[in-house]
Amino acid sequence: MKTWNVGIVGLRRGRGFVSVFAAHPRVNVTALCDLDQGTLSDLGEAFSLPDSALYTDYDQFLDAQTDIIMVATPIRFHADMTVNALQAGKHVLCEQTAAYTVPDCERIVDAVKQTGQGYMMAENYCYFHYIRQWREIINQGKLGTIFHAEAEYIHEIEHLLVDEQSGSFFWRHERPPIWYCAHCLGPLLTLMDDRIVAASGSSAGFHKRPEYSDHLGFLDMEIGLFRTQKGALIKIARSQVAPRYPHLVYYTLYGTKGYVENGRGDGTEGRIWTEDHAKDAEHRPAEPMHCTTVDPDAPDDAKHGGHGTSEYYMIREFLDALEANVRPPIDVIRSMDFTVPGIIAHESAMSDGNWREVPLFEW
Ligand SMILES: NC(=O)c1ccc[n+]([C@@H]2O[C@H](COP(=O)([O-])OP(=O)(O)OC[C@H]3O[C@@H](n4cnc5c(N)ncnc54)[C@H](O)[C@@H]3O)[C@@H](O)[C@H]2O)c1
Repeated sequence: MKTWNVGIVGLRRGRGFVSVFAAHPRVNVTALCDLDQGTLSDLGEAFSLPDSALYTDYDQFLDAQTDIIMVATPIRFHADMTVNALQAGKHVLCEQTAAYTVPDCERIVDAVKQTGQGYMMAENYCYFHYIRQWREIINQGKLGTIFHAEAEYIHEIEHLLVDEQSGSFFWRHERPPIWYCAHCLGPLLTLMDDRIVAASGSSAGFHKRPEYSDHLGFLDMEIGLFRTQKGALIKIARSQVAPRYPHLVYYTLYGTKGYVENGRGDGTEGRIWTEDHAKDAEHRPAEPMHCTTVDPDAPDDAKHGGHGTSEYYMIREFLDALEANVRPPIDVIRSMDFTVPGIIAHESAMSDGNWREVPLFEW
C-alpha cells in the first residue's frame, strides 16, 4: 500500500481536512499553504509540522514533496491553482465548485487530460450516509424510473458575505447562490446516474438586503430548472440570505414506483414510499426514514471529519482510485456536471429566464 504525501492550501476549510487526511493510515500531510501566517503557524504547530513545511507562496508550496494537493481556497482561485498543481505533476482534490466560468472549467478538463494526473472535486454531500443508503435502494430499482427530483440548500451566511461593522466584503459576496449548486446537483445526479443537458433560472431579487443589490451573493433566492439526458426534470432552490433556521439541506426523488425525501425540518426525518408499501392497501402512507449523515457502522477514524462520515469516505474513494490508477468517482467530467448547470442557470436568471443548452464535457 502506497503512502501518499498530501499538501493542503487554504486552511479555513482545509483545517478540517488535515485531521480527515490524518485519519487515513495511507496519508502523510507533509505541507501546508495559506496567505495568513498566523493560521499557518497555528496549524503547523497543531500537526507537528516543521516550519520548512509551511508556505505562504503557492508556487513554492508546489515544489514541496507532495503527491496530492487539496485545494480549499475561495472558488475564484480553484482553476489556476488546480491547473498549476496538475502541471507540477500532482493529483488534485479540489473543493467545490470546480470554477466560476465555463472557460475555466474547460481549462481544468484540458489540464487533467494533458497531464494524466488524478482530479476529483470534493463534493462531500454525495457521501452523506443517507445518500449512500438511497443509492442502494435506487440501484435495486425500488423507485423505478426517476422522472423528477428536487433539492434545496437554504443557508443564511450573511456574516460570510460582509463584515457589517467595517462594511468590507468577503469572497462569497460575488457568488450568486446558484453558482454554488454542487451540494444540490451532486447527490441528485449521482443517485439518478444522469447528466444535465438544459438549464433555466429565475431569481427573486434583493428584497432582504436591497442595499447590497450590486453584490450577487445577496440575491434572495435563485431557482434552477434542469432537464436531464434521460428525460427527467430537476428543480433546485438556493439562498445565502433567506432567514431559515436551522439551515435546510433537502432532497426528494420521484420515480415510477415510489419516492424518497429527507424532510424539510432538520433534514433527518425523511419518508419513503415504494410499491412494497402498497402490498396490503393501495394508498398506504409513506414510512418514516431516519436520514443521518453519519454511518453508524463506520470505523471510529471516519468520524474525525465534518459533515458526518462523508469526508472520510470521499477521501477513501479518491485514494482507492489513485491506487488502482482509475478515474475517481467524481472525476473531472462529473465535477463539471455538478458545476456548469448552475453557471448556465444563473445566466438565464440574469437575462430572459429561457432554457439554455448546458455544455457537456466528454472524456
Ligand atoms: N464542501 C463543503 O461542505 C464546504 C464548506 C465550506 C467551504 N467549502 C469550500 O472551501 C473553500 C474555502 O472556503 P472557506 O470557507 O474556507 O473560505 P475562507 O475565506 O474562510 O478561507 C479561505 C482560506 O484560504 C486562504 N487563501 C486565500 N487565498 C489564498 C491563496 N492565494 N493562497 C493561499 N491561501 C489562500 C485564506 O487566507 C483563508 O485562510 C471554498 O471552495 C468553499 O466553497 C466547502
